[in-house]
Amino acid sequence: MNYCIVGLQWGDEGKGKVVDILAEHSDIVVRYSGGSNAGHTVVVGDSKFALHLLPSGVVRPNINCIITNAVVVDPEVLLNEIETIAKKGITLKGRLFISENAHVVLDYHKREDQLREESLGKNKIGTTIRGIGPCYADKAGRSHAVRMGDLRNLQQLKEKLQTIVNYKNKVFTAVYNATPISADAIFEKCKSYADRFLPFIIDTTEFLHNSIKDGKSILFEGAQGTLLDLDHGTFPYVTSSNSSPLGMSAGCGVPAKYVDKFIGVVKAYTTRVGAGPFPTEQDNEIGQYIRDRGHEYGTTTGRPRRCGWFDAVAVSYSVRIGAIDEIALMHLDTLAGLKEVKICRVYSSIVHHPSSIDRRETRDEGRETTWFPANINKLAQAEAVYETLPGWDEDITDVKDFQKLPPNAQKFISWIEKLTGTAVTIIGVGPKRSQTIFRIH
Ligand code: GDP
Ligand code: IMO
Ligand code: MG
Repeated sequence: MNYCIVGLQWGDEGKGKVVDILAEHSDIVVRYSGGSNAGHTVVVGDSKFALHLLPSGVVRPNINCIITNAVVVDPEVLLNEIETIAKKGITLKGRLFISENAHVVLDYHKREDQLREESLGKNKIGTTIRGIGPCYADKAGRSHAVRMGDLRNLQQLKEKLQTIVNYKNKVFTAVYNATPISADAIFEKCKSYADRFLPFIIDTTEFLHNSIKDGKSILFEGAQGTLLDLDHGTFPYVTSSNSSPLGMSAGCGVPAKYVDKFIGVVKAYTTRVGAGPFPTEQDNEIGQYIRDRGHEYGTTTGRPRRCGWFDAVAVSYSVRIGAIDEIALMHLDTLAGLKEVKICRVYSSIVHHPSSIDRRETRDEGRETTWFPANINKLAQAEAVYETLPGWDEDITDVKDFQKLPPNAQKFISWIEKLTGTAVTIIGVGPKRSQTIFRIH
């Protein structure tokens, strides 16, 4: 079986944990989009791995790990990651493959990301400053792009870098009043990347198609989440790639029809890092309760995550555009102890009354929608209407069986299934592998 694991919210849903679990029965795990903006956590016994570029199957020996064409690779981060996991006794020799067509994130991308964000002030996107947007922009622009395969021809790369850095330096100095960077220094780094990475660089599309022919079991690992998709998310507060399931095929050259199941990962609530509208946000003691219990601080940047109730309008949208077969519902344990829990079932539009004396805002009951408006001007007008359910107090972190969950937790899950029209087949009750409930429908 080939599975694709994708986030259905704004990222950090717990994809790393789900991929790690399902990798037990896979031959190959494929990272097909995003870059080191991702932070996927895998917990094995007492060890915690925060993975940014390596596929989350990496902690299991003998699994082939593939980084495909649409991933933007920061070689420095990747080297660090390889060294970090080597210290934990995990070797990648002969089982890591990187696409020759994957684009390379270099120092000038990170600098551009930072300078642009700083220049935007309160209008900033809140990026991870990992150079993701600038690298994808260079990819689309073509003439200033560097791919992993370019490391094979260093003389050509040296000339190319000189042209690119000349251009970037003009922008840095004239637009941002920043100091220029050195093309030679970047080239020296590229030489060392070539030494380290050339043996791993292949045509990953060919590798994957041969593997499919050989009947191998492949797990495709999404990064970010559907609502951060460049085309289908809450633009411009998104990342610069197609992080919805729709990005999977172009991201690795394997058509979606070869995937037996798309599993969408969600949290039992919603989180978001960075700016942008968030209809179910709880910027109050409920949000703080969730943040504290769920340890909701970014894996990549350490920023506190914005927290709010589960949004079935948003998740239903992600389910629809991704043709999601099943849902993995993580962090159910985090909601324990709340008197009541809420699920947003519909949005109603806020109507402004500019002419009224008190300039009040009211909800227009007649303009309710269950279709998520990805356009942020519409989304900013959306008010979440909730189904309020009784909470549960019991600690569920040791529960192994759905029937043993408190009845109110079971009801909460049934509501999610009803509102999203999708079966919840995996339930997370803690970060460890063993803290997972599997359900067969
Ligand atoms: P990803 O980016 O989707 O892989 O998610 P992150 O790793 O950024 O964030 C998910 C966090 O939740 C990590 O710290 C996980 O170890 C943790 N986690 C995953 N599933 C569960 C769960 O069911 N319960 C709890 N309490 N923690 C979980
Ligand atoms: P994983 O794979 C959560 C967010 C950033 C910012 C926006 C743009 O761990 O779920 P970027 O650096 O990509 O240009 O930032 O996207 N973002 C994520 N949020 N989880 C992620 O990845 C994210 N990757 C990017 O916070 O709002
Ligand atoms: Mg993450």
